Amino acid sequence: MPDGFVWGAATAAYQIEGAVAEDGRGASIWDTFTRRPGAVADGTSGEVACDSYHRWRDDVDLLEKLGVDAYRFSVAWPRVLPAGHGTVNRAGLDYYDRLVDALCERGIRPFVTLYHWDLPQALEDAGGWRVRDTADHFADYAAVVAGRLGDRVQDWITLNEPYVSSMVGYAEGRHAPGATEGHGALAAAHHLLVGHGGAVRALRAARAGARIGITLNLSPAVPATGSAADRAAAHRMDLMLNRQFTDPVLGRTYPDGFAELYAGVSDLSFRRDGDLELIGAPLDFLGVNYYYRIHAADAPRERDDPARRSAFDIGVRSVTREGVPVTDLGWPIEPHGLYETLTGLAQRYPDLPPVYVTENGIAQLRDDPDADPERIAFVAGHLAAAARAAADAPVDLRGYFYWSLLDNFEWARGYGPRFGLVHVDYPTGTRTPRASYHWLRERLSGRTGNR
Ligand code: NOJ
Repeated sequence: MPDGFVWGAATAAYQIEGAVAEDGRGASIWDTFTRRPGAVADGTSGEVACDSYHRWRDDVDLLEKLGVDAYRFSVAWPRVLPAGHGTVNRAGLDYYDRLVDALCERGIRPFVTLYHWDLPQALEDAGGWRVRDTADHFADYAAVVAGRLGDRVQDWITLNEPYVSSMVGYAEGRHAPGATEGHGALAAAHHLLVGHGGAVRALRAARAGARIGITLNLSPAVPATGSAADRAAAHRMDLMLNRQFTDPVLGRTYPDGFAELYAGVSDLSFRRDGDLELIGAPLDFLGVNYYYRIHAADAPRERDDPARRSAFDIGVRSVTREGVPVTDLGWPIEPHGLYETLTGLAQRYPDLPPVYVTENGIAQLRDDPDADPERIAFVAGHLAAAARAAADAPVDLRGYFYWSLLDNFEWARGYGPRFGLVHVDYPTGTRTPRASYHWLRERLSGRTGNR
């Protein structure tokens, strides 16, 4: 990787912090959702998680010993503004203030995600992302955080994976707030992007030197067979998963075929003049989370079947391909998909800003604190694919963040899947670096350092 390439590890507030009722933190939609019977596979929640709210010094030590240049973490909105807007909770900000200080003292660059899915419950009660007010409140919250941390934090990520927040949270109901609405989910997606645009504006106003991006989960959608029907299905999947977000964020209109895709679900009446200008304001970087490719097959639309949970159906089934290895979660392992994602972005968007891989990682289900050979192979394979993409296409690839530093609360799947370079023993909070941690540390120790 080129000089100056940023190596990092990533986490998110609700997945690691615990301490959900401490120091004035308000409730988030994940506190509420995890109480719903059946919502989380093992019936757990982020109530304690990795206890990073108390053990953050251990986390910083682990980052320093690993030798990474950067740490991507998220700020919990309900810690900063317990009701989502209005009164600022200083004690909540103090936590991030201490964390940022400790990182800077060790020469580790903070990459701060402002929204990693933990919407204040009070805002959900007022409509959540279905309503535009939430986007306005998000921009105000961004300004509050920048006001406190912006003298030391330069790198900001507005949203993490707005596709998941909107479609999985408001249409499929598998994530908080657990809604199954068609129009509501599309409104949520749009308002998330309006919130992103508003936050970019607020951050630029608050801090002249801020470097600002957004993190999108991108997956190449490839047709399961060469049939015209499967090719069309892959195209629909690409529109919904990727281009619904990349196009507007990178200064385009919503893609052709977008309104047809959702015909009968929503009249898209939540859009307003001026939204696209706000959403498409220039960015300093694009964050890409890459985990897998999607093999898309045409499937009958079952939108009207009340037995189906998702509120809408674009007529695509994701299939597993014979011969493609999968992770313990059944996710296809195809590093080439990262190559396709990065080169595809460069082809489609000639004005693509610099790119960071803000997440990439593999989960294991077995509870093994030491050996994780598949993780080393996974990371090595994806790094090689990323390097090839940067060599073959005009992609200004600036960094790679492994997901995750620690085993943590994997949302609706609970604590079963373990993504960490570091094993966490949940009953005691003990952290034990795995083989992959030592492997990465060795790789990083040979460098002159970019900190
Ligand atoms: C993406 C999300 O940003 C993160 O929160 C999650 O744990 C990983 N993917 C793994 O599923």
